[in-house]
Amino acid sequence: MKIVAISGSPRKGNTEFMLKRILTQAEKSEVSTALILLRNKRIEFCDGCLSCDSSFICRKRDDMQMIYSKLEDADLIILGSPTYFDNVTGMMKNFIDRLNIYNVNKKLKGKKIIIVNVGQDVSVISNKVVKYFELLSECLESVVIGDLSLIAKEDQDIENDPERIMKIDEFVKSILGQN
Ligand SMILES: Cc1cc2nc3c(=O)[nH]c(=O)nc-3n(C[C@H](O)[C@H](O)[C@H](O)COP(=O)(O)O)c2cc1C
Repeated sequence: MKIVAISGSPRKGNTEFMLKRILTQAEKSEVSTALILLRNKRIEFCDGCLSCDSSFICRKRDDMQMIYSKLEDADLIILGSPTYFDNVTGMMKNFIDRLNIYNVNKKLKGKKIIIVNVGQDVSVISNKVVKYFELLSECLESVVIGDLSLIAKEDQDIENDPERIMKIDEFVKSILGQN
């Protein structure tokens, strides 16, 4: 099984830690993993040309071309974003807008999706970011198989808390059957 995880956080913080922990736990089985940090990638804004509607590809030449290959090759895609004003980060939204090709060519149809979210307060509990990712998955005709949301504010809050780390491990176990 191939897993690709996408982090939409602009910093090396909780989302990144959660994704790394999930991938490390998953690697206990026969899986190959890749972590893509959007903060290190050059991804232009979708300029709305809609040429992908007929060409089924994006004509922009930036790091999305490599990411498209990874997404299409993956069996499981993990989408991780902090909550910013009750939504995903701008970085994640920019990435999502560039997924319009899949609205048309449906190459992510049936792919399994896991949603990872972190926020500093109870807005995380209201699941707005999870719901947004679910709507995205509906558009792509992919299948959400699980979601994990944790509360954290400072960049190392989760890394320094064994209880929240245990929640991540239990989540992986429940979703991927890891021991
Ligand atoms: C611009 C901005 C907006 C934020 N908006 C929210 C919010 O609406 N709800 C919330 O729970 N946390 C909010 N936060 C807090 C972050 O979600 C929190 O710090 C989180 O741990 C960041 O994740 P990261 O460590 O992966 O970057 C916001 C933070 C920033 C910088």
